[in-house]
Amino acid sequence: MEDDLSKDSVTKGLGTRFIGQRVIYYSKIPSTMDVAKREAQQGAAEGTVVIAGEQTAGKGRMKRVWLSPKGNIALSIIMYPKMAYLSSLVMAASLAVVHTIADVTGLRSQIKWPNDVLINGKKICGILVESGVRDSSVDYAVVGIGINVNLKTADFTGMYLPVTSLSDELGRDVSRLELVRRLLFEFEELYLSVRNGEPVYQEWRDSLNTLGKRVHARSGNTVYEGIVESIAEDGSLMLRCSDGSLIKLTAGDVTLRD
Ligand code: BTN
Repeated sequence: MEDDLSKDSVTKGLGTRFIGQRVIYYSKIPSTMDVAKREAQQGAAEGTVVIAGEQTAGKGRMKRVWLSPKGNIALSIIMYPKMAYLSSLVMAASLAVVHTIADVTGLRSQIKWPNDVLINGKKICGILVESGVRDSSVDYAVVGIGINVNLKTADFTGMYLPVTSLSDELGRDVSRLELVRRLLFEFEELYLSVRNGEPVYQEWRDSLNTLGKRVHARSGNTVYEGIVESIAEDGSLMLRCSDGSLIKLTAGDVTLRD
């Protein structure tokens, strides 16, 4: 499916207040994160979105490479949140993806802590938030979202975990334009609720596939094994380790054990 993600097609009649009202589109660039961070440092309007038709050096969390060939969604949104909203921003982004996938395709997805989105246990979306923080205030935050849309994942080997795409799940292609427009709308709705004092924490926590599960949790170079006892309101994972101790992880990755 050939769909056009250029500025006019994304912004026309979008119906948002500020997210996606300015779009910078490239058919091919190394990473939308670098462009968005440069724009943010130069004071780009809040909600500016950098979209790439294809990325040649996509960035994942923990210095991983993120593959985003043609057919996928790769975008970064520039935000200037208060420090108190930074953790909710990450939650709003993953929830917006869950809502968008459900609205546009009818597929049910879940969040794997901290912010991967999975369908049937396979990764469909990754989210990377990079922020500039000074004197405990946020200069900017760039929310990078990559979704596997029209991609035959069988053609890509050597992934560090099982992946899928919307076209793999549905057996047909999906409009990236429709997904992008819905995603920007949903993200704004959720972010505005946070700013209005209606936290997204509860819905985010309920969308996690991780609560109560036995996991391996990697944080830095350390791997812990235990049961996810709870998730704190700031998004940290509370892990009851096999030796009975309770540890709090603010960043990292989990692998579900069966
Ligand atoms: C992860 O799961 O490790 C996060 C992946 C984030 C990928 C997106 S694609 C758009 C934006 N540009 C990048 O280079 N990375 C993020």
